[in-house]
Amino acid sequence: MRTNYCGLIDVQYLDQTVILYGWVHRRRDHGGVIFVDLRDREGLVQVVCDPDNPAAFQVAEKIRNEFVVKATGRVRHRPAGTVNPNLISGEIEVLVSSIDILNASLTPPFLMDDENLSEATRLEHRYLDLRRPQMQENLRLRYKVAMAVRLFLDQHGFIDVETPMLTKSTPEGARDYLVPSRVSTGHFFALPQSPQLFKQLLMVSGFDRYYQITKCFRDEDLRADRQPEFTQIDIETSFLDEGQIMQMMEEMICTVFKSVRNIDLPSPFPRLTHAEAMSKYGSDKPDMRVALVLTELTDVMQEVEFKVFREAALRTGGRVAALRVPGGGALSRKEIDDYTSFVAIYGAKGLAYIKVNALEKGMDGLQSPILKFLPENVIQVIIERTGAKDGDLIFFGADKAQVVNEALGALRARVGHDRGLAALEWKPLWVVDFPMFERDEEENRWKALHHPFTSPAEGHENLLESDPEKALSKAYDMVLNGSEIGGGSVRIHRQEIQSKVFRALNIGEDEANEKFGFLLEALQYGAPPHGGIAFGLDRIVAMMAGAESIREVIAFPKTQRAQCLLTHAPSTVGEKQLRELHIKLRHAQS
Ligand code: AMO
Ligand code: AMP
Repeated sequence: MRTNYCGLIDVQYLDQTVILYGWVHRRRDHGGVIFVDLRDREGLVQVVCDPDNPAAFQVAEKIRNEFVVKATGRVRHRPAGTVNPNLISGEIEVLVSSIDILNASLTPPFLMDDENLSEATRLEHRYLDLRRPQMQENLRLRYKVAMAVRLFLDQHGFIDVETPMLTKSTPEGARDYLVPSRVSTGHFFALPQSPQLFKQLLMVSGFDRYYQITKCFRDEDLRADRQPEFTQIDIETSFLDEGQIMQMMEEMICTVFKSVRNIDLPSPFPRLTHAEAMSKYGSDKPDMRVALVLTELTDVMQEVEFKVFREAALRTGGRVAALRVPGGGALSRKEIDDYTSFVAIYGAKGLAYIKVNALEKGMDGLQSPILKFLPENVIQVIIERTGAKDGDLIFFGADKAQVVNEALGALRARVGHDRGLAALEWKPLWVVDFPMFERDEEENRWKALHHPFTSPAEGHENLLESDPEKALSKAYDMVLNGSEIGGGSVRIHRQEIQSKVFRALNIGEDEANEKFGFLLEALQYGAPPHGGIAFGLDRIVAMMAGAESIREVIAFPKTQRAQCLLTHAPSTVGEKQLRELHIKLRHAQS
C-alpha cells in the first residue's frame, strides 16, 4: 500500500520509509547515480537510485519518462545547494531501497511541463495533457467549486433532482442537438438546452427548492467561453421574488469564492438596468474593471455634414456614440488601424477618432480626419460630454445601435485592458430590467430576450401586446469581469399571461400546445409563483483559474468546430445503424 503521495512528502517524514506510486516525470543519469522525479497527483518528489543497490539501480537504468513505478525508500535531506524551494518536497529526497516498473510507456508526444503546446496536440492526447499539474489543479478547482455550491444549496434546503437528457426541444435560443428515435419512426428527441421546463414542473410538483449541476447542449457558434455541451448550476425556487432570489444567489457566489479561493467579492453587487448598461457600456455584460464609458452623441449629430454620423443619427434605431480614451493621444496610426480592424469584427464600418492635443488652441489643438465635417459647436459638445483632456483620444461609432454598442462595447474593454485602464479586481454586478423582447430582424418578429417563460415586470402585462418593445421583464443576469456567469428570472406562473407572451411572440395556440402544452396544462394545476437562475459552472471555474478559455477547465472539451480530437466524434455510422433509425443521408459520408 502507498504510504504517501509523492508531492506531499516534506521534512516531517525524515528517516521514514515511504512507499510511493507514480509516473516518471524525468530521469537524470548523473554518472553513477540516477535521479528520478516521481510524479503523482500531488506533485513531484526526487527519488535517488544509488549503484550501491544494484538490483534497484538496474531497474532505474531501464526507466524512461512516463513509466509507472513503485518505489520504496527512506526520506533524507537533499544535499546542501540542491534544495528546490518551489516544491513541498524540495528539501528532501527518497533514497530507493527497491523500485519496480509497473508499466512502461511509449515516448510521450510532449513533456508534461512543456508550456508551449498547441491546443490541438493537447486535445488529441488529452489523457496525457490532463497529467500536467496545471490541468490537475484546474479540475480539482472545478470539483471544489461544485462541492461548495452543493454545500451551500444543501444548507439552504435545496435538493438535487435529475431531469431527462432525452427530451423535447426547449427554446433557449440555440439550435438543438437531435437524437433520432428508433422506435418512433421520424421522431426525434432533443438534448436539453437547459432543464428550464422540467425545473418549472418540479415547482408545480411542490419541491420548492431544486438544484442540479447538469449538462446542457446547444448547437451554436462556439467561442472561448462557449462549448456545445457545458455545465449549468441550475436552480429554481418557489415563493421568492426576484430580489430574494438575487440576494440568495449573490450570497452563494460570494460563499463559493470565499471558501474555494479566499476571495472577498465586493458585496452587495451593484445593480445596473439593461438600458443603462447598453447606453454607458454598450454591453449587457459590462466589464466593470474598465473605467471607461460611452458618451451619447446621437442627438447632436442629426444635422452635421459628415454623412456617416448624420445618417446614423437620423435613422430609427441608430446611434452615434463616443469613447474617450484617457492618454489615447499616444496611440500610433498602426494601433488605431488595429482597433479599426477589431471593431470591424462587430460590423463597424469604420472607427473615426479625434486626438485632443491642446484644448487651449481650440480647433487647431485637435487632430482628426473628420474635423472638417463637424461644426465647432458640435465639437464643443463632444469635448464637454466626454470630458476629454489634452493627450486624450476620442473614438466614434455610428450605425444601428446594436452595431455601435457591440463595437464600442468590445472596444471599451479591449482598449481598457491594453492601456492599463482596468483595475485588477473582481467586479461583479447584476444587470436587471431586461426588456421582455428583442427584434429578430431576419425573421421580422419579436423574440424572447431570455426565454418565453420569463415574467413581465409588475404592471407591464398590458404592454405585452400593445407595446412589446417597452415591456420589461423580471429577468436578471449576474456578470463578473465582463462575463455573463449566470442568468435567470421570475417565471410566469399563470397560464393566461403565458398565453399572452406566446401571442406576442407570434407563437400560435396550436404551436404553443404542440411545443409546451404540458407546461401550459401544468400551470393550471396550482402552479406556485416561482423563479430561478442558472450559472455557467465552466465560466465560473475558468475565471477563478485565470484561464483564457473554458476548455481549460473541462476534462474532455470540444474544439471551436464542435469536434472531439481525442475520440474523433462526431463520426460516421454504419448503414445498418442508419437504417434502424430510418435515416437516409442526402450526401455520402466522408
Ligand atoms: P442561460 O441561457 O442564460 O439561461 O444560461 C445560463 C448560463 O449558462 C452559461 N452558458 C454557457 N456556458 C458555456 N457554453 C455555452 N454554450 C453556454 N451557454 C450558456 C452562461 C449563462 O449565464 N434556463 C435559463 C436559466 C434560467 O432562466 O433559470 C438558461 O439556461 O454562464
Ligand atoms: P471615410 O469618410 O469613409 O473616409 O471615413 C472617415 C472616418 O470615419 C474614418 O476614420 C473612418 O474609420 C470613420 N468611419 C467610417 N464609417 C464609420 C462608422 N460607421 N462609425 C464610425 N466611424 C466611421
